Amino acid sequence: MDRKVRKAIIPAAGLGTRFLPATKALAKEMLPIVDTPTIQYIIEEAVASGIEEILIITNSNKHSMENHFDTSYELESRLAASGKHDQVKQIRDIANLANIYYIRQKEPKGLGHAVLCAKSFIGDEPFAVLLGDDVVVNKGGEPSLKQLISAFDKKSASVVGVQTVQKEEVFKYGIVAPSASHLPEGRLVKLTSMVEKPAVEEAPSQLAVLGRYILTPEIFELLETQETGAGGEIQLTDAIKRLMDMQAVYAYDFEGIRYDVGDKFGFIKATIDFALDREELKEKVEAYIKELAKEV
Ligand code: G1P
Repeated sequence: MDRKVRKAIIPAAGLGTRFLPATKALAKEMLPIVDTPTIQYIIEEAVASGIEEILIITNSNKHSMENHFDTSYELESRLAASGKHDQVKQIRDIANLANIYYIRQKEPKGLGHAVLCAKSFIGDEPFAVLLGDDVVVNKGGEPSLKQLISAFDKKSASVVGVQTVQKEEVFKYGIVAPSASHLPEGRLVKLTSMVEKPAVEEAPSQLAVLGRYILTPEIFELLETQETGAGGEIQLTDAIKRLMDMQAVYAYDFEGIRYDVGDKFGFIKATIDFALDREELKEKVEAYIKELAKEV
């Protein structure tokens, strides 16, 4: 088995109901933070982490996403004709970001089922999963996925990316149970269990899986027999829990700020922070925020 993490899966077949009406005709992954679709930030992170091949799991409503990562000859030639060479380069670079493949998930049966759609693409190698709702920024440090890949390289075992969330928030996430008998190694802990969207009184910790995974290919045989779990869906969390009976699974408390861009408020926070990080927008946005602050 090739032990290097070269491939990534990005499940993007969700209906985006939290962003209706915008997502009636538009893929939610195409909603821009400032001027860049959220899915592009995810792909840039994968590429910056050393991923070479990416499979996006889509559905019939996601053409705009495929077009975004394709060459656009007409747009390029129009921009070139009007001397906008920087923009030509910008849109050409997007089409050359990575080798991107697409497959459709024919029924919305959950994240575990979406990942199973990638079985033949992945074959017998470890791979990454990045969820489009979780945009992570680690200014000056390594991308969150790269941190997980380094942990995988150390342990040759599956690693899920976690951060501590508030008690009232555990019901939204996959929550991990760190082993009591293994001492954490820095940010890395061995796991004994994992539960999808637990009630607060049943949560084994406040460490939530936040959209980044490195998994060994044995997960596929478990997903094939995985019964439905929380929300009546085939849950990736439940299959990872079963994987722990076969091999070690770790959690890595990754460095970086994570934005839940699948949530309206999370999306607004990301928009403000990303705008404040842009040279051309910073001053105007700061002045506007100060103005607003006087009124509240
Ligand atoms: C999914 C996973 C969950 C994870 C969460 C955040 O849930 O099932 O384990 O914690 O993403 O990345 P969803 O937000 O799709 O309901």
